[in-house]
Amino acid sequence: MPGVVIVGAQWGDEGKGKVTDLLADRADVIVRFQGGNNAGHTIVRDGEEFKFHLIPSGILHPDKTCVIGNGVVLDPSILLGEIDGLRRRGIDVGNLRISANAHLIMPYHVLLDTAGETKLGKLSIGTTRRGIGPCYADKALRLGIRVQDLLDEKILRAKIRAALEPKQQALRELSVQRRKLRKEAGEEPAKGAAEPTVEEVPDPRLDLHTMTEEHVSYGHRLEPHIADTARLCWDALDDDRTVIFEGAQATLLDLDHGTYPFVTSSNPIAGAACVGAGVGPTDIDEVWGIAKAYATRVGAGPFPTELHDEVGERMLERGHEFGTTTGRRRRCGWMDLIALRYAVRLNRMSALTITKLDVLSGIDPLRVAVRYRSKEGAVLDRFPYHQSILHSAEPEYEELPGFDADISECRSEADLPREARDYLRFIADFAGVPIRLVGVGPDREQVVWID
Ligand code: IMP
Repeated sequence: MPGVVIVGAQWGDEGKGKVTDLLADRADVIVRFQGGNNAGHTIVRDGEEFKFHLIPSGILHPDKTCVIGNGVVLDPSILLGEIDGLRRRGIDVGNLRISANAHLIMPYHVLLDTAGETKLGKLSIGTTRRGIGPCYADKALRLGIRVQDLLDEKILRAKIRAALEPKQQALRELSVQRRKLRKEAGEEPAKGAAEPTVEEVPDPRLDLHTMTEEHVSYGHRLEPHIADTARLCWDALDDDRTVIFEGAQATLLDLDHGTYPFVTSSNPIAGAACVGAGVGPTDIDEVWGIAKAYATRVGAGPFPTELHDEVGERMLERGHEFGTTTGRRRRCGWMDLIALRYAVRLNRMSALTITKLDVLSGIDPLRVAVRYRSKEGAVLDRFPYHQSILHSAEPEYEELPGFDADISECRSEADLPREARDYLRFIADFAGVPIRLVGVGPDREQVVWID
């Protein structure tokens, strides 16, 4: 500490929220630096469950400043819903700060995300349909609307008008294409029951006036939270106070380094914390990678160690592997150490947290992937950069003895069964990074600190 990045080491849902909440005990500022409400962080405190999509996981600490950084894409209606939900439960959100430079997810981004996925059909990415990709695309196109624009109705209206026109055009084309495809497939609905196109029935969500009014009112409500958040981070770091940079999604969903195109539209890796919060690389002192004791993935894309058997079912049920954001079933599989070692190096991790070790109790033997074999028979001991190789790579496993005991009450390394300790040691040795924290149950107290 003081600059600590928390990063997902797999395909997301590793339990970053819980670790952030724990490390927040020792921090002053917690910053989200990328992603949007595609994320879902669950924290369980004294049996009470909190789910966040946008608000940083430090919010349960009233004395900490929580920041939504410039790299986040923010749906204001969702954020206000979260703020209201927390207030109803008596949680103070007075310390929430939102970067004036963060981009807004607008209603047309959500419509485009869904329309784009529908058009892709079987080739769809399985996005969360929250408008993430279209919003980041507009940011790069310089057609984005930022949080600061909410505070000036004239600018807001002009920017929405400029952004809206190409969206209406795109949605119209997608709608026409969809009808054409349906017709070709003989799915044309009965006369009179045809699905209306954008041309026939203007979508009320795309009305310039309504959208502007609605967003002006969001601006009024969010104004007390809007700030120069990069400066806030600099002030904290310059005073030697600890800042946690909380990643969402994970390394293998990274737009540049993940399993493209089956990735999200931002950079969840540690390096992106600098851009998404506005600090320099030398402000980062530690990188904590979070991995589950097994692996999961939601949405489409390669997953070499995926299981389609009763062990995978067991992980799904015992681990409650259903998406926090979309409720979708997560695909489950063995721990993939080739992918983990890639994530360790890419993020230059200084520590690892292994979560949900308790879910593996009763599974014997345990398997971990230690190499892949290509379809031509070549041994691959590094994560392949070529998507076709990864798609057909077959994992080869090391078998390790499992453990039967219920470990949910373990609070020190010595409490863990020998097989569980050996499993952790094998992971740490292979990945080349020490494990500092192990999750043995959903509650924030259900952890084992190591060293
Ligand atoms: P998008 O981020 O909604 O565009 O979705 C792109 C891909 O990232 C899809 O496979 C999603 O399932 C996945 N994804 C996005 N956010 C999360 C997350 O928080 N956890 C796990 N997967 C995610």
